[in-house]
Parts: sequence; structure tokens; C-alpha cells
Amino acid sequence: MPERTRVVVIGAGPAGLLLSHLLDRFGIESIVIDSRTREQIETTIRAGILEQGTVEILTDTRASDRVLTVGQKHEGIELRFAGEGHRIDFADTVGRAVWLYPQHEVLKDLVAARLAAGQDLRFGVTAERVEDAGTSRPRIVAKDAEGNPVEIEADVVVGADGSRSVVREAVTGTYGGYFREYPFAWFGILCEAPPSSPELIYSNSPDGFALISQRSPGVQRMYFQCAPDTDTEAYTEEQLWEILQARVPGTTLNEGHIFQRDVLRFRSFVAHEMRRGRVVLVGDAAHTVPPTGAKGMNLAVADVVLLTEALRALLLDHDETLLDAYPEIARRRIWKAQHFSWWMTNMLHLQPGASDFDRMRQIGELRTIVESHAGRAYLAEAYTGWQFEGGLPGVK
Ligand code: PHB
Repeated sequence: MPERTRVVVIGAGPAGLLLSHLLDRFGIESIVIDSRTREQIETTIRAGILEQGTVEILTDTRASDRVLTVGQKHEGIELRFAGEGHRIDFADTVGRAVWLYPQHEVLKDLVAARLAAGQDLRFGVTAERVEDAGTSRPRIVAKDAEGNPVEIEADVVVGADGSRSVVREAVTGTYGGYFREYPFAWFGILCEAPPSSPELIYSNSPDGFALISQRSPGVQRMYFQCAPDTDTEAYTEEQLWEILQARVPGTTLNEGHIFQRDVLRFRSFVAHEMRRGRVVLVGDAAHTVPPTGAKGMNLAVADVVLLTEALRALLLDHDETLLDAYPEIARRRIWKAQHFSWWMTNMLHLQPGASDFDRMRQIGELRTIVESHAGRAYLAEAYTGWQFEGGLPGVK
């Protein structure tokens, strides 16, 4: 006999954990499963920037207080090109801000809050498929860490299981989506050093893009554009510093021991469908953005905010209209974020085979933004995040 709950959530990432947290505020029971261990979830280095709305939902619903104490408020970024740095001032243009607070810290807070609340949260449980997707009693078929079968039946199955989602197939079929690949990737490093700049630097240089980001007062995160098939061991530490230094002319980077390297592929993806009956997708399971605009985790949070309201209406008021509207409303923001991420990516990266004209046009585009209040305001508005439609669920 399968177990039963109201909502079964596949994936204990930011989307899945936040959804179970928000549902709990309405007294809606859920089970969250994830194939990874708690340690893997809490230590994998991912994104770093939270939009203002993401921070508000985390703090107003008591999911995280640490974001305000450990996280750092950033009221601008620097765009660098043609040997000059230009500050985009968020406070001055849109009166909003972002917080630098690593995703794994968000996950630590959410896991701790869910466990303290008695959430049924199961690590090491791997979803295999969804059954009865078209009915009002969909079921997830999974295996626990010892290989024992697990079956959970629910009113709603939510796929919050990332870009390699197992749930997606039950909603869209395997290839059902809009897709774009980019001819470059990011080489990312973590190093032990103090920050090189008070704010993030996004640099368009003749050698290609670089991003100078941060993690904490003693640990910095930096990236440079590379070919997608680059090996993480292709460079010595010395070579990595040479490459990074050359891409931010005018700034001397504080160098230190590089203790982690990774290569991030660039993709844009939006699933054709986000819902089939009582099976719903959120976050990376439904869409992927290249990292340049720092939108990935924030977009997942925006989906969850909408879906919480839809599930509250369905499960407490027997009203399905919000769930019917969920994909359509979510997609408006998803495509705005897709555009912003694509635009930032194309404006800042060196396209393989770019002509002199292409490169000079890019500088013209960057100047158009930084020398115009409207241009700076557009970038600031998108980067700090559009307001959530309908406000925050469960926040009085
Ligand atoms: C990061 O710190 O990992 C980061 C920051 C800003 C981005 C992308 C990644 O746009």
C-alpha cells in the first residue's frame, strides 16, 4: 500500500524546501524526498545573489534570519568595459537591493527550519517515476538508500528536482521545451582571499568575460568565460590568476589559494508545460537560465510563491482556478528572466568568431546602458527582481 500525504515534493533544493515551509504555514502537510544526502545538499556551492523579494519571503515567513546578519546587502554592481568601470546604483535608480548570501546557506536555514517543525524530509530517496499523473491521486515511485521501494500517493506531486528532473517527463514528455545553448561556459573558482572590490564586477574584456563575486570576508568566488569543454585541471593556480587579472584591467585582484574549481555550462530552457493535472513543476525542473543575471534560484522562489497560493486554494477551498492559472502567470516572469539572462550574457561575453564590428557594437550597447538613467534603471529593476504578483503568501 502506498503512503499518503497531501503534497509530495520531489527535491530538497531551495524550491522544494521553501514550498513545504510555506504550505506548512497554511497547515498543509507534505513529504519532501531527495536522492542526495543532507551533507551533499548543504555543501554544494551554487548561486550567491538573492533578490530583494526572495529575502523578504525568507525573513517575513521566518525561514531565515541569518540572511540579514550573515548575508551582505549590495546596493549596486560594477559594469566594466573598454578600460572603465561604471557603477549601476540600485538604490538611486529603483530603491531596491540584492543580498549576497550563498544558496547552500539558504538550504542550511531551510533544512533546519523544516526539521525543527517536524517536516517529513527524507534524504537518500530517489524518485524513479510518477504514476497516475492524469488522475486526482498521482503517485511517486521511488527507492530509499538501501534500495527498498517507496511509494507515496498525494493530492499533488510537485517536481522541484532540478534540471535533470524525473518528474518533468510525466508533465511534458522528455523533450518538451524551448532550448538554447551557448558557445561558452564559465570557469569558476573559490579562493581564500579578502574581497577585491566592495561590489560585484561584471567585466567585458577583449579576452572575454569575467565576474568578480564574493562568498564571505575570507572566501571569494570568481568566474571567467571559457570554452564549454574546458577541463577544470587545464590551468595551474598561477595561470588562473593571470587569466583573471587580465580580464579586469584597472583592478588588482587579491590572490589566494584556489581550493575549488568547476566549469558551468550555459543553457536556456523553458518547458512547454509546467502542469499536467495534479503534477506540477517548479524551478529548474521547468526552466534553466545562464548564470549571468543571477536569476536561477530567485525564479524558483517566484514559482513557489505562486504555487503556494494555488495549492492553498485547491486543498483548503477546493478551488482549482489558481492552479489552472499557475503556468500562464509563472511564464510571464520566466520569460522576462529568460530575456534578461540572455541579454546580460550576450552583452558581456565575447562571442567566438566575433568581428571587430560585433565587439565595437557591444561597447556601444554597454555605453547606452551606463550613460542613461533609463538604461541603468532597467538593469537595476531586473537584477533586483520584479515585484511578486499578488504579494507574499501567508504573510499578514
Ligand atoms: C555567484 O556569486 O555565484 C554569482 C553572482 C552573480 C552572478 C552569478 C553568480 O550573476
